[in-house]
Amino acid sequence: MPSFIDDFCPFHDNAWINASSIGAMPKAAYEAAQEVIKWNTKPYKISETVFADIPQNLKIALGKLIGAPAKEIILGNSASYGLHLWANGIPLQKGDEVLLVKGDFPATILPWVYLRKKGIRVHEIKPKAGYLQPTDLLDALSDSTRILCATWVDSFAGFKLDAHALGKVCQDHKVLFLLNVTQGLGAIPFDVSKMPIDGITCKGYKWLCGTYDSGFAWMKPEHINHLEYNQAYWIPMQGDRELDKIRDYQILTDLGAAQYDVFGTANLFNFAPWIESVKLFLKHGIHNIEKHNNQLVNQFINGLNTTKYDIYSPLKGEERSAIILISHKQPERNKSIFKLLQEENVFISFREGLLRFSPHLYNTHADIDKALDILNALE
Ligand SMILES: Cc1ncc(COP(=O)(O)O)c(C=O)c1O
Repeated sequence: MPSFIDDFCPFHDNAWINASSIGAMPKAAYEAAQEVIKWNTKPYKISETVFADIPQNLKIALGKLIGAPAKEIILGNSASYGLHLWANGIPLQKGDEVLLVKGDFPATILPWVYLRKKGIRVHEIKPKAGYLQPTDLLDALSDSTRILCATWVDSFAGFKLDAHALGKVCQDHKVLFLLNVTQGLGAIPFDVSKMPIDGITCKGYKWLCGTYDSGFAWMKPEHINHLEYNQAYWIPMQGDRELDKIRDYQILTDLGAAQYDVFGTANLFNFAPWIESVKLFLKHGIHNIEKHNNQLVNQFINGLNTTKYDIYSPLKGEERSAIILISHKQPERNKSIFKLLQEENVFISFREGLLRFSPHLYNTHADIDKALDILNALE
């Protein structure tokens, strides 16, 4: 199994099996963050070009990661940033329908709910088998459906949607397919140039090992150009002009994705380290990281004593991700098991009464063994 551990600061005795909550920052990102902080103690040393270069380099790296040109990347600060841009900016008429998935992560649901006030139908599909499948979508589609917005990898059970199949149904019915890829991108390859997809949004703090305030979105250029969203941030509106012309009050209409970058785009503290994290993913290749994570998930699933625990996540197949939720056969014990793991320096999440494990590239077989030893030793 390839080891990525040397790219991270030492974890000492701690097993952080919790990327679905926070991804550890790689060494190179930490060093970049320190460098940027240092700059601010000596501002006379800051070159004016870094304010443009850092966002641009981040766009290049993220673009390579998802198979899109840098100019199509919208820099954000969260997954919600892209979701709000879509919910507030995609032109919809009274009577149009937006499809969501019942039980989805709130960030993917809430921005659309307000549209009901404008007479737009917002319908939550209830999947028959626990997660959305193309048949569920086909049953839900109507002549009014304009958008399907869903979350690729679910935080509450760890299943992964078949984005390709769902996207194909959407494409065939001229429905926009928008996906929140927060819990998958960085752990599972996703290439927008090979997918029938119209937009993705992602938080950077989890599987992409960025800082809390990092995120991005991508949307097909043909849709970007049709957004009706009042964003006229003064910095992109300068275009290529010299800053001594800033009082021209010009509205540029050909900025593409850059028009919708988050305010404070030269957010050096977040974006400089995140570039290094994304470059690390590019260097190792997401396929290799996926293989690594898969081995750890297999180790966990195969090693868990299932006479004592139930596994709530898919055990195999395309719908499995690197997120596994389990419960002790006596679910009321889960909270104390979570605390016990923590006392033994095994860090996971406790979500809706279940124990959530999410290994990533910095985890090792020893981390999984440590968790299994504790879990299996309990009655
Ligand atoms: C699927 C999913 N989307 C979004 C988020 C976070 O959203 P935001 O970046 O908008 O805070 C999380 C977790 O915090 C998540 O699990």
